[in-house]
Amino acid sequence: MINPKLAKIFYGGDYNPDQWPREIWDEDIRLFKLASIDLVTLPVFSWALLQPDETHYRFDWLDEILDLLADNDIYACMATSTAAHPAWMAHRYPDVLRTNFYGEKRRFGMRHNSCPNSPTYLKYSRALAGALAHRYKDHPALLIWHVSNEYGGECYCDNCAAAFRIWLQQRYGSLDELNRCWNTRFWSHTFYDWDEIVPPNMLSEHLSPWDQTRTAFQGISLDYRRFMSDSILASYRLEYDALKEHTPDVPVTTNLMGHFKPLNYFQWAPYLDVISWDSYPPMGVHPADIALRHDLMRALKHGQPFMLMEQTPSQQNWQPYNSLKRPGVLRLWSHQAVAHGADAVMYFQMRQSRGACEKWHGAVISHAGHENVRVFREVAELGNDLNRLGDSLLDARAESQVAILFDWENWWALEMSSGPSKDLKYLPQIYKYYRALWKRGIPTDFVGPDSDLSNYRLLIAPTAYLLQPGFADKLKQFVRSGGAFLTTFFSGMVDHNDLVVLGGYPGELRDLTGVWVEEFDAFPPDLSNEIVLDHPLGDLNGAYQCGLVCDLAHAEKADVLAVYGKDFYAGRPALTRNTYGSGAAWYIASDPEQPFVDGLLAHICDEQGVQPILTPHEGVEVTQRAKDNHTFTFLLNHNDRPADVELGDIAGEDLLTGQHLSGKATLPPHGVSIIRTKQ
Ligand code: GLA
Ligand code: ZN
Repeated sequence: MINPKLAKIFYGGDYNPDQWPREIWDEDIRLFKLASIDLVTLPVFSWALLQPDETHYRFDWLDEILDLLADNDIYACMATSTAAHPAWMAHRYPDVLRTNFYGEKRRFGMRHNSCPNSPTYLKYSRALAGALAHRYKDHPALLIWHVSNEYGGECYCDNCAAAFRIWLQQRYGSLDELNRCWNTRFWSHTFYDWDEIVPPNMLSEHLSPWDQTRTAFQGISLDYRRFMSDSILASYRLEYDALKEHTPDVPVTTNLMGHFKPLNYFQWAPYLDVISWDSYPPMGVHPADIALRHDLMRALKHGQPFMLMEQTPSQQNWQPYNSLKRPGVLRLWSHQAVAHGADAVMYFQMRQSRGACEKWHGAVISHAGHENVRVFREVAELGNDLNRLGDSLLDARAESQVAILFDWENWWALEMSSGPSKDLKYLPQIYKYYRALWKRGIPTDFVGPDSDLSNYRLLIAPTAYLLQPGFADKLKQFVRSGGAFLTTFFSGMVDHNDLVVLGGYPGELRDLTGVWVEEFDAFPPDLSNEIVLDHPLGDLNGAYQCGLVCDLAHAEKADVLAVYGKDFYAGRPALTRNTYGSGAAWYIASDPEQPFVDGLLAHICDEQGVQPILTPHEGVEVTQRAKDNHTFTFLLNHNDRPADVELGDIAGEDLLTGQHLSGKATLPPHGVSIIRTKQ
């Protein structure tokens, strides 16, 4: 449980009372009560106010607002305020300022702006976290800590360069080993002294004008990404430890951002007590794409419930087109988060700010300043829903028999590699396979390279280009004991140093997949090939388009189920299945159109005995959470029209209405039901 002090789904959001005069606070509290708000996050960006100079803190205003919250039974998700440094600090100690990818030293400005290896930043951020924890450790409002805010970015300053060299010494032990792993004889890069190594950026290794993510040396750039993720994590951990010194029992989190490329969240997760994340889907997003991010965030702590730390009640300000959430969508998307494992539903922001760049960002309390507006009414309605749910869902777990591998290091390596195609990106591949499962109503987990696979019937690893040490053996064990494994083109190509696995692709997956890939072709967007099935496979039949990359494979042991339809490699394997122990390894040699993936996954799920929760109904998402011998089935109608959903064996109380549902449920447009059944 996130914190047993409050036995319900937390409801609230980012609150910036320090941007408003004192008399507004009482009005805020009145409106919070009307909307059933019970948790507010503060002070997220108040470092300059909390610490006017090097030696003083000013906590008086924070004391007052925390007391006011406690008097009104509202808890605080207490932020450490270290995500934007004060101007005096940057002025006096320029080492806090970052140096960007182009080698330019930043001036004071913006936020999320501190160098993670700046001695000044580390000293003062740790001290502030400690001071807050010391002062508020016994405050009745304190419920959970929120360190900094949306960590990210990168720095290439001299402090980071020096820290990188130390990080490399720890990783490689010797320059000989480093030279070997980076393959430095290429382009005369042999290093004879650690000090010769510089951070890889646009001044050094990233020089390609057509795509800056590409680097001349994948080994160096991959290590810099690892190092940056580790550096930022280390700065977080300093604050974490400072908080725990005073409040060992108060959970600590920092708000993550879904599939955020710069930080390897699987490596961060052990250092967060609770996962929390910020969800900002644009209008017109496919609901599966929101679901995917919730599932990825839930995976970080192996299914433990997470907090939806931020979402907008209405619109954002930073997208190219900041459309309003249509009536009912806020409620639908909030329940969708709960359906995927959230035990908190929170907003950015509680009161709409008056100046600077977020003044057009939606808020619970709008510029109108009162409750008689659509958005507030919808927020209050959702507050009622969450009151009604009480503690029934808290800590309930989602169960899946299918998992998708998500490996940040594979993502980094795949996209910084030069060739075979600039369009080869990791996320679209992940999305394609996830969407197929979502449409079929099959709950999906994500797993990282270190996760336990034994509970799954099917594991999908799209473009698993880089394999971590030992992962192939784990896969073999998984398949031998009855699991199905599906991988795709350009997989198993390199080891964790981005060195090619010699002797034939897909390297360590060759034995398991039973194929040898001799070469691979790449297409510009307007060209394609096709995958032609010999015999129908489930609902798959005939020919399907494919493109991007085509592996030219030999089936050494695998059965060939489909072949290429065109070009000089027409007739060569495009889809294979290799029986391995009691399971099977599937391999798709190219990037097929979505209907092929939909049909193939339906077939493999059937073969593995993995069934949808309910017969799929277009646009209606179905998920389950379970606890204490109860199953909670969520029906989420993403359509603009009503939906009749066949409930099969599922019959029970809809927790949102108290009605008994069985046989068929009619959901209004954007409607939600949560049906409780006894197991
Ligand atoms: C992020 C930040 C918030 C705010 C919102 C606006 O999630 O964490 O401080 O800027 O975006 O959408
Ligand atoms: Zn730096």
